[in-house]
Amino acid sequence: MRGRFITFEGGDGSGKSTHAKLLAERLRSLGIEVVLTREPGGSPGAEIIRHVLLSGAAKPLGVETETILFAAARDDHVRTVIRPALVEGKWVICDRFIDSTRVYQGALGKVDRKLIRGLERVTVGAAMPDLTFILDVPATVGLARASRRRAGGNADRFEAETVEFHEELRRAYRALAHEEPRRIVIVDGRPPREVVAERIWSQASERLHPQRAAAASATESAAP
Ligand code: TYD
Repeated sequence: MRGRFITFEGGDGSGKSTHAKLLAERLRSLGIEVVLTREPGGSPGAEIIRHVLLSGAAKPLGVETETILFAAARDDHVRTVIRPALVEGKWVICDRFIDSTRVYQGALGKVDRKLIRGLERVTVGAAMPDLTFILDVPATVGLARASRRRAGGNADRFEAETVEFHEELRRAYRALAHEEPRRIVIVDGRPPREVVAERIWSQASERLHPQRAAAASATESAAP
């Protein structure tokens, strides 16, 4: 059986990377094999493109070119990591995926929706996420957390934007969730970590039935 594909989205300091990791651990504790990965990057080819994008080196080329570079990185990542894992029945958890492009390059960068959706079809095809969590925090909370985490280090190309940019980002994520309620769940990222983790777990359990998948794969591997 094809594995399940879960993505985490949100602004800076929303806690998505922490919760991606916690969910992976919880699924593994049931005996499910999980590949935890992230974008941009996640495969050797895509990591090279990540460096070009986050250093700001591609910025002068324009937002369309940046979009195409994100798509090129995604293509390599899907082809070499995500799709093979899903085919083997593993679960894949990815920190950022197509919704980051829809929001950062699409809603905020004003890149044409047709270009973005066309690139999605080519790079992702049928490997669409089964479930996406958007961790929602007010821009000021997220930026404060992110700057504490960096502790004086430099902001990357996308982190260097303003509070208004991050509020706009939040609105754009919410609009996406509204468009695709079956796939996308918004989770309030402000409560204590354990509370947020429990909400994520209950949504994942209800929608993807990990206990059932773990029992089925145990039966399969026990079969002669
Ligand atoms: P990263 O350092 O991975 O940080 P985080 O995910 O914790 O924010 O930075 C990724 C940056 O790239 C982030 O600011 C969002 C941006 N990004 C896009 O603009 N488009 C995309 O398609 C993806 C995957 C990321």
